[in-house]
Amino acid sequence: MKFKGRDIISIKDFNRKEIDYILKTAETIEPLAKSGSDMLHGKMLATLFFEPSTRTRLSFEAAMHKLGGSAIGFAKPEIASVKKGENLADTIRVVENYADVIALRHPLEGAARLAAEFAQIPIINAGSGAEEHPTQALLDLYTILKEKNQIDRLNIALIGDLRYGRTVHSLAYALSLYDVKLHLISPELLRMRREVLDAIKKKIEVAERTGMEEALPEIDVLYMTRIQKERFADMAEYAKVKSAYKIDCDVLENVKKDMVIMHPLPRIDEIADEVDATPHARYFQQVWNGIIVRMALLALILGATE
Ligand code: NCD
Repeated sequence: MKFKGRDIISIKDFNRKEIDYILKTAETIEPLAKSGSDMLHGKMLATLFFEPSTRTRLSFEAAMHKLGGSAIGFAKPEIASVKKGENLADTIRVVENYADVIALRHPLEGAARLAAEFAQIPIINAGSGAEEHPTQALLDLYTILKEKNQIDRLNIALIGDLRYGRTVHSLAYALSLYDVKLHLISPELLRMRREVLDAIKKKIEVAERTGMEEALPEIDVLYMTRIQKERFADMAEYAKVKSAYKIDCDVLENVKKDMVIMHPLPRIDEIADEVDATPHARYFQQVWNGIIVRMALLALILGATE
């Protein structure tokens, strides 16, 4: 298995063996998230974020620092030469002179793939429009594995905006490599993208519905998502679905005792604050796991670990 020098553009570029290997590496690297290491001393990460982010950018940078490397980048394209009209290919060809790896977030689908075609150094897709968010899927899998000791044989529900949510696209592809039952719960308008649905249905059992109540009692992992307001072309359509689902303590009366609730964050109103204090909540644990998984990915891609 070779990771050194590899791009991470789509989770579909990885098979189960490779994903399991990344998760295993994350497990071994976890103690270093506390103690620190100089594994990536002298290495530079560039984070180029053309869309808002808190967790993804900061956790990539934190991961790099914890392994003894450095990070540069921009979080607002308005302050970069992009604002002057520089195209993505030129931006990449410039930045690769400063860095050993680039994490890119861009509103356009296909942007990360395009960047990788121009770059001599590895590109990590940190979110490409509504399409994919592969490193989020890896940290989601890591969280499931830590919480449940296995991914196989679980009933997993993805709830909310399955049309525009890129995290659920990558996660659904990844989960289709395991023996899981996937419950896709969304408003009709925000059903799982056709291409994702077609691909995963060939591999695993998938149940689609609009109501969440009937499915809840059998769910092991409930993955909640935000309705992606910024991706709607028509705000009247958004208004129809904006508060479609809400998890609160009443809803939790009907769930398995050990069901875990995950969310890529940010949340808007889909999980009530009162849920945070219940033993089900794992979304802040996911944030911590994000650093660990990104440490593992950087170490693998930059050849510091095999
Ligand atoms: C997600 C994203 O940017 O796609 N956030 C994240 O990276 N954790 C989810 C979202 O914005 O809803």
